[in-house]
Amino acid sequence: MSDTASLKLGEKTYDLPVITGTENEKAIDISKLRDSSGYITLDNGYKNTGATKSAITFLDGEKGILKYRGYRIEDLAEKSSFLEVAYLLIYGDLPTQAQLDDFQFQITRHTLVHEDMKKFFDGFPSKSHPMGQLCSLICSLSAFYPESLDTNPSKEDVNLTIIKLLAKMPTVVSWIYKKSLGHPVIYPQNNLEYVTNYLYMTFGQRTEHIEIDPVVVSAMNKLLILHADHEQNCSTSTVRIVGSSESNLYASISAGISALWGPLHGGANQAVIEMLEQIKNDGGDTEKWIAKAKDKNDPFRLMGFGHRVYKNFDPRAKIIKKACDDILAKLGVNDPVLDIAKKLEEVALSDQYFIDRKLYPNVDFYSGIIYRALGFPTEMFTVLFALGRLPGWIAQWKEMRENKEPIGRPRQIYVGHTVREFVDINNRK
Ligand code: ACO
Repeated sequence: MSDTASLKLGEKTYDLPVITGTENEKAIDISKLRDSSGYITLDNGYKNTGATKSAITFLDGEKGILKYRGYRIEDLAEKSSFLEVAYLLIYGDLPTQAQLDDFQFQITRHTLVHEDMKKFFDGFPSKSHPMGQLCSLICSLSAFYPESLDTNPSKEDVNLTIIKLLAKMPTVVSWIYKKSLGHPVIYPQNNLEYVTNYLYMTFGQRTEHIEIDPVVVSAMNKLLILHADHEQNCSTSTVRIVGSSESNLYASISAGISALWGPLHGGANQAVIEMLEQIKNDGGDTEKWIAKAKDKNDPFRLMGFGHRVYKNFDPRAKIIKKACDDILAKLGVNDPVLDIAKKLEEVALSDQYFIDRKLYPNVDFYSGIIYRALGFPTEMFTVLFALGRLPGWIAQWKEMRENKEPIGRPRQIYVGHTVREFVDINNRK
């Protein structure tokens, strides 16, 4: 097939280069189209627009394939730890044992956060949303580590900032949780591995409720791995676009956390449980709520269903559904909200509306259920998503900077007033 595409505009024909990715994905390169023709392309929500070339994550929404750096998500979720996956995403290859040990060692040297930061935790109202706290706290790390502000840093400095961020995130996340309970914070214990350390700082004083059980550690590792990257989604694109102005890593990730917060993105895991509780409190009639989701005059949507790119199934949901069943069985959880979830899933999967629109349960449908079973409050769910997505955001930021990508700056089609004569304030109607 030709490696150019022809676009006819009026009498003129423009030849546009065709770009082919390693998985045979095809794109028409329109980057010079405006210069030659005066036209831009319009694509609300970037539904069909590639913003970058990336070597980190590949997904095929039709076939339900997800791979990080060429490795299948199924293998990574089954056979590796979250820290190995973080290394893979950020540095490009799976680590050797020595590399992994060194990575873990470097991280454990930076798990403490500056004591002055504790005052910030005290300053937030105890009931404020953890995501609001998280994006503020992560951005404020730039104030404590000003070397991150250098716009032309050495490779070593960039790496140090990456290590610090990976190391401090679990501490910050667990302290947000502890503060919400009014409990004293727990300091990291650096002989523990990354995920275990996080669980220790979170549930350390609640051993009667949950021990740092290997089944829980394994479920948590799996959840974090499944969330670790997902190519150019809303929050990742935000991280890249903020970083493209040479904003520091902490500020760029903080912006990504804000983007993740919304219920149409990472906030869906919280929204799923809130929806299930609403249905339960309303009497548990799932058919009624399915009908509401289908009614175009009703703003209600079935949270945890549908995905912008997966139109067959979400491969992460498949893995997580199994982990969900395992963990519920292991913990012996009996929760009426979970029964509603099962019923809803069953009804939606056999309903023509959902079949026609290729709407399947996504990763957030099941992750919320697991987090609830592990004892996390609903408002922490999206924070846990952020903890998992951190290595992906870092890898994407690093790739964008290493490739020296230009500042992100979309264009628009202006549809407002043309010119209006200025009217003095006393004469305005
Ligand atoms: N419930 C009911 N109807 C839905 C749902 C849903 N959850 N999702 C999509 N639809 C319908 C739309 O109304 C539309 O119907 P129409 O063609 O008759 O107008 C059709 O399916 C296509 O939906 P779009 O909104 O165009 O799909 P889009 O790709 O823009 O949206 C999204 C994807 C945002 C995920 C959407 O499916 C949704 O809102 N889902 C619920 C929220 C959710 O679970 N988000 C988490 C996504 S995963 C993640 O971010 C990690």
